[in-house]
Amino acid sequence: MTRTAVDRYRVVGHPIAHSRSPEIHRAFALQTGQPLVYDRALIPLAPPEAFDDAIRAFAAEGGRGVNVTLPFKARAFALATRHSDRARVAGACNTLILGPDGIAGDNTDGPGLVADVQGRLGFGLAGRRVTVLGAGGAARGLMLSLLQAGVASLTVANRSLDRVGALVEHVERQRPDPDAGAVRIGIASLEQAPAADLVINATSAGLLDEPLPLPPDLFRSCGLAYDCVYAAAPTAFMTQARTGGSRAVSDGLGMLVEQAAESFMLWRGVRPRTAPVLAALRESLTAASAR
Ligand code: ATR
Repeated sequence: MTRTAVDRYRVVGHPIAHSRSPEIHRAFALQTGQPLVYDRALIPLAPPEAFDDAIRAFAAEGGRGVNVTLPFKARAFALATRHSDRARVAGACNTLILGPDGIAGDNTDGPGLVADVQGRLGFGLAGRRVTVLGAGGAARGLMLSLLQAGVASLTVANRSLDRVGALVEHVERQRPDPDAGAVRIGIASLEQAPAADLVINATSAGLLDEPLPLPPDLFRSCGLAYDCVYAAAPTAFMTQARTGGSRAVSDGLGMLVEQAAESFMLWRGVRPRTAPVLAALRESLTAASAR
């Protein structure tokens, strides 16, 4: 009897039913002819070791890679035995590579954002002033990629100043040596967020209907306002930015597809084309909201 070996991958989180990762990775696999299966698994929130046990069990069954979503990205970092620089700076992993010599952890959120902003939206990052709103896991995941893209300045603005102080301290401690010139990361409150060429919303307030308490002129010279979350309709942040004068606005659906492409590349060594997958995803999001 012959058995066809098909490599297994999955996305884990809590909740997980809403995740679009299975359909994105299946589309990539079909497009590139890669023989793999990709499913989803819900991991209980307690006990904390449930996450480690689930990943180890999947590896023992022959699993080759895992995408990790909320709230387990920091736990995934702790479980990994090797880390990329960007995972270390993020302190979090959204991608695990399961191999005979252990678990390697990476974080593809930053490269996903950069690919979407520069590739799809055509907004070059080199020499730009960038303001990131939010100082949680999502913001941390972007830091090294923004620095490495050669931004001229980078400021993180957050509701809690303690939290943004801790983020910057962590990033400065962890960033690899000659990563991106001498750019020092600035700190601000949301109310004093500095005007920038690119303003990124990485707060988890993204889907609330209330506007963030931002200075009135934040978006006046803004070329692009990017929301890391996505929705069928423009998010509150996108509306706020457009009203404030931002020339372009985007939600984060493209970032979602690009971070998946980067994970796929890490696992399979093949880079899928993202445009058709993003177009299909956008269409299904719009159709679902019209129902
Ligand atoms: P994530 O992993 O999505 O980044 P998180 O680590 O809980 O989630 O971080 C959430 C971020 O959104 C934080 O920067 C948080 O601000 P605080 O550090 O001050 O809590 C920000 N945030 C959440 N709700 C917010 C709101 N209503 N207004 C402003 N900022 C908000």
